[in-house]
Amino acid sequence: MKNILVTGGAGFIGSAFVRHMVAAYPDYNIICYDKLTYAGNIDNLLSVSDEGNYRFERGDIADRAAVRHILEIYCIDTIVNFAAESHVDRSILDPDAFIHTDVVGVYILLDEGRKRGIKRFCQVSTDEVYGDIEAGHSSEDDRFLPNSPYAASKAGGELMARAYHVTYGMDTIITRGSNTYGPFQYPEKLVPFFTTEALDDKPLPVYGDGKQIRDWLHVEDHARGVDLVLHRGVAGEAYNLAGENQRCNIDITHRILELLGKPRSLIRHVPDREGHDRRYAMTAEKARALGWQRQYDFDQGLEATVDWYVSNEWWWRKIKTGEYLDFYKMQYAQRLASLEA
Ligand code: NAD
Ligand code: TYD
Repeated sequence: MKNILVTGGAGFIGSAFVRHMVAAYPDYNIICYDKLTYAGNIDNLLSVSDEGNYRFERGDIADRAAVRHILEIYCIDTIVNFAAESHVDRSILDPDAFIHTDVVGVYILLDEGRKRGIKRFCQVSTDEVYGDIEAGHSSEDDRFLPNSPYAASKAGGELMARAYHVTYGMDTIITRGSNTYGPFQYPEKLVPFFTTEALDDKPLPVYGDGKQIRDWLHVEDHARGVDLVLHRGVAGEAYNLAGENQRCNIDITHRILELLGKPRSLIRHVPDREGHDRRYAMTAEKARALGWQRQYDFDQGLEATVDWYVSNEWWWRKIKTGEYLDFYKMQYAQRLASLEA
């Protein structure tokens, strides 16, 4: 492993992975390839921009000619794919971009990678492929029952990675991370959205009763997990990266308000997300057996994350304009108005 292409490396988790790899492996060349969609943000990579073992290239993983060019000019031997459309609510409004990137894009990366003799391809996937887990925990061999267009598109992408291993003998490997939180997360996802809205005394739209359960993982633990699987995982296998930290949305909402010293009266129970999964939960045994150990305790990690958004308005204020406001209106205006009617 020497020349690593990190696709989607300007997003939330991909940028944490790039920052980690650039610091941890001075002998590797880390090439970030990202389309810079609404969720991609070059500010996430400012801390590594002057490092000698880091390069940035803008492009689409579904653009075959561009992918081929990048693989050739940098003599890429390893691909780690974080690139995705990643927000469930946007996938419900319009699944189109999800098929383009999470299915077709993954296929193009795999296909070009195989033709150029890539040594290892790591596909970053999600616990959402397992669907709603009423009780117990999903383990890696459990069946897929994705319920949102996002989850289905991620399932399609990782199944293609599996097929390239079985059919062509390509060295592909999969990680399935749980709900991730931390600095630099686009403020449409629960933790940064509610934190930044509460700072401005705006209403927090909790879907339904807020009793849905997610399993929370700190972004740096997620990034270290992908590194470990990349280096030690067995080809053709999938590894759950589970936070093993199950919390209800409403409890997290209460804690964010408490940390900010804001009142619970900001909470609005709005009509639920369509097809909303009640619970995700996975076992992390397999990744633990490889040597993965999470370093963040959730309560401390959440507090530090909320503090980060409080101290880094320069990062999120400029995002919450333009396209962001269009999405906000489409997703929340009617839901919030229905409460006043
Ligand atoms: P994100 O939305 O913050 O970042 C996605 C990145 O991909 C952005 O930089 C965007 O510009 C880039 N991108 C999108 N389409 C592209 C394309 N066609 N070509 C090149 N780049 C493109 O997402 P994230 O939260 O950092 O998630 C990263 C990966 O981890 C995704 O594959 C996601 O499915 C997976 N994941 C996320 C979570 C989570 O809680 N956020 C949990 C488990 C797994
Ligand atoms: P989200 O951050 O969108 O992640 P995911 O859908 O991938 O789990 O949402 C986390 C949980 O928070 C999920 O159960 C939906 C809920 N949620 C709300 O209740 N209100 C909101 O405005 C958002 C964005 C999420």
